Amino acid sequence: MFEGIAVHQWLCWGTLYLLAAGVALSSETRWLCPKSCRCNTVLLEVNCSDGQLTTVPNGLPQNPKLLNLTHNKIKTLVHQQFLTLTQLLDLDLSDNIIVIIEVEAFLGLQSLITLRLARNHLKIIPVGVFAGLPKLKLLDISSNEILVFLDFTFRDLTALQFIIAADNDLVFISHQAFTGLTSLQELRLDGCNLTAVPTEALTQLGSLTSLHFYRMGITTLPNYSFRHLERLKELLISHCRWLENLSGNSLFGLNLTSLTIRHCNLSVVPYISLHHLVYLVYLDLSFNPITYIHENLFGDLLRLQELHLVGGSLLRIEIGAFKGLAHFKLLNVSRNFLTTLEVGAFHSVDALRTLGLDNNPLACDCRLLWVVQRRLYLDFGGNPPTCATSVQLQGWYFLDFTEAELPGLLTCRQPSILNPKPQEVRVDQGQTVVFYCNAEGDPLPSVTWISPQLKPLSPIGRIRALSNGSLEVRYAQPQDSGAYLCVASNAAGNDSLLVSIHVRAFPSSSKKPFHLKGWFAFPSASPGMNGNQNIALDVKTLLVAATIGLISFFSSVSVCFVFMFFWSKSKGQIKHTATIAYVPRSAVSSSNGGKGNYMETSRFTMKLI
Ligand SMILES: *[C@@H]1O[C@H](CO)[C@@H](O)[C@H](O)[C@H]1NC(C)=O
Ligand SMILES: *[C@@H]1O[C@H](CO)[C@@H](O)[C@H](O)[C@H]1NC(C)=O
Ligand SMILES: *[C@@H]1O[C@H](CO)[C@@H](O)[C@H](O)[C@H]1NC(C)=O
Ligand SMILES: *[C@@H]1O[C@H](CO)[C@@H](O)[C@H](O)[C@H]1NC(C)=O
Ligand SMILES: *[C@@H]1O[C@H](CO)[C@@H](O)[C@H](O)[C@H]1NC(C)=O
Ligand SMILES: *[C@@H]1O[C@H](CO)[C@@H](O)[C@H](O)[C@H]1NC(C)=O
Ligand SMILES: *[C@@H]1O[C@H](CO)[C@@H](O)[C@H](O)[C@H]1NC(C)=O
Ligand SMILES: *[C@@H]1O[C@H](CO)[C@@H](O)[C@H](O)[C@H]1NC(C)=O
Ligand SMILES: *[C@@H]1O[C@H](CO)[C@@H](O)[C@H](O)[C@H]1NC(C)=O
Ligand SMILES: *[C@@H]1O[C@H](CO)[C@@H](O)[C@H](O)[C@H]1NC(C)=O
Repeated sequence: MFEGIAVHQWLCWGTLYLLAAGVALSSETRWLCPKSCRCNTVLLEVNCSDGQLTTVPNGLPQNPKLLNLTHNKIKTLVHQQFLTLTQLLDLDLSDNIIVIIEVEAFLGLQSLITLRLARNHLKIIPVGVFAGLPKLKLLDISSNEILVFLDFTFRDLTALQFIIAADNDLVFISHQAFTGLTSLQELRLDGCNLTAVPTEALTQLGSLTSLHFYRMGITTLPNYSFRHLERLKELLISHCRWLENLSGNSLFGLNLTSLTIRHCNLSVVPYISLHHLVYLVYLDLSFNPITYIHENLFGDLLRLQELHLVGGSLLRIEIGAFKGLAHFKLLNVSRNFLTTLEVGAFHSVDALRTLGLDNNPLACDCRLLWVVQRRLYLDFGGNPPTCATSVQLQGWYFLDFTEAELPGLLTCRQPSILNPKPQEVRVDQGQTVVFYCNAEGDPLPSVTWISPQLKPLSPIGRIRALSNGSLEVRYAQPQDSGAYLCVASNAAGNDSLLVSIHVRAFPSSSKKPFHLKGWFAFPSASPGMNGNQNIALDVKTLLVAATIGLISFFSSVSVCFVFMFFWSKSKGQIKHTATIAYVPRSAVSSSNGGKGNYMETSRFTMKLI
């Protein structure tokens, strides 16, 4: 299409070409546009795309601004072949089959701003390839098969701002690979088999503002992974399916505004690693098997505006989860396993503008009334939430009901404790007591037990609140006596039940039993065992013990016996009895000889002379 203006082209480019071309210049090819290319003399663009070329064509005009060599069959870029294109701004070599680039291949392209080498077959980039590109701003080497970045590969690219290296097979990034990239702002890396964050190499990139990692083969993000990246604002880690956790200080030194860790294998929100990121605005943890958002743990992220956790395993967002986040305006928790989202999770719902709650098995009750009441202000992204569990509302969008209907449909029932007769129990020291507190209500109430000291009881310990709502007091001690309160509460209110326990102490002898600290242990919960097997240890017993072969037992007891005797003497208060816990041999491995093991123990009292 340009033949018609060949004369014009001659005027424009011919002179320069003649001056510089060292190649033979026959009368047929005396010009300008190589056969497979189309040249636009107005825009100064040479389009050799799709030209079946196997090498860079000879006889290119000298002052084009753009040279497009995409979709050809170029395999090798030889030494200094673009030497004459000093005005070129844009060189596109994508979609070829380039395997080899020789050193100094781009020498002479002193004005070049963008260089694209995407979708070729590069495996390695020799050091010196990028020599002579002082103005280069963007380098695209994505979708190649690059395995390593060697030291000083990018040494000469002092003006480079963007490297796109996604979709390669990086295995190793050498420590000095990024040396010289003092202007680099954005880096996109892809390393299926990178087994460590290239921390050392990244320290060279003091101007970096955006860093993207794809497919890294790491399981833990180690402490101090991103040192000296003070300017970094955006970090994205994606498709790291082995990444299970972030060390506490892994993001130390960063001051991010945007953090994305998606398609990884995090099962908990990495609160500790995040808490210093007080300028964070955007957080995306989508497609991780995270089950809970706990209360009060995001509080440090004062400026957080958006949280995306799509496609996770969320079961619950606790009340107070977003406490302190006054600017929080977007929550997208689509495609999780949430049964509800209570208004108490937010600092203030007034700021909330966008809510993705679709594709969750929502129980439609009074807890979701706030969503309905705010439906005119909230953007559901075209997917309003639906009910899964309420029979009446199943499959319906909330928004299809009228304002008047809804409060009647989204209801809750206050908890009530079944069988609420007051329970009062008197037991002997050492016994085990269980109190029941079964409650019903809609939604099912949660049950907490409060101790006589007004502390909530946890599911572990000697006195514990069981998951079925019962309270268990094992090996009751006199100090356990008092009133315990069971509180059953749900969104509609609470109900409570008071029980009390009185523990009678053993009749105590005038002489206090002597307890060997560290050895004392509670007998385990084997039913039928009273927990107190006091054996009188005297000469007879010792003899019997010796005769049945417990020699080692005997000797260790003797040592302790003597030790205790002197110890109590030295304290000036002679004890006459001692209670000693011993561990039957069968219960312990012989290697630890029975000390320091608190499994199955028994006790005996012995008399001191
Ligand atoms: C370059 O040439 C190809 C092949 O002829 C054509 O499809 C494409 O549109 C051209 N590009 C421009 C920018 O002219
Ligand atoms: C080169 O041409 C291809 C095909 O026409 C096009 O897709 C590509 O964007 C062009 N490159 C540049 C830098 O214009
Ligand atoms: C990555 O490592 C795995 C096994 O360790 C191997 O099968 C795979 O081919 C490697 N990928 C690359 C690009 O080297
Ligand atoms: C993800 O983590 C879980 C344990 O949290 C583990 O069982 C699973 O194998 C991990 N998945 C991958 C792809 O490593
Ligand atoms: C984090 O990873 C380490 C080892 O990879 C593991 O020992 C630790 O339990 C993990 N922590 C969490 C919270 O998953
Ligand atoms: C990472 O740093 C935290 C906080 O200082 C520390 O508790 C943890 O042990 C460190 N982890 C490793 C693997 O060094
Ligand atoms: C952190 O980044 C914010 C803006 O993103 C900036 O205002 C603040 O000064 C930075 N803090 C430090 C310590 O660099
Ligand atoms: C939530 O994220 C999903 C997936 O990215 C998107 O399709 C949906 O529109 C988002 N929802 C809202 C309310 O923004
Ligand atoms: C709760 O569990 C404990 C121990 O598992 C059991 O003793 C108690 O009977 C259970 N309570 C109810 C009400 O099922
Ligand atoms: C139970 O409800 C009352 C009022 O209905 C409230 O004052 C009290 O704080 C609630 N108690 C608990 C433990 O939630």
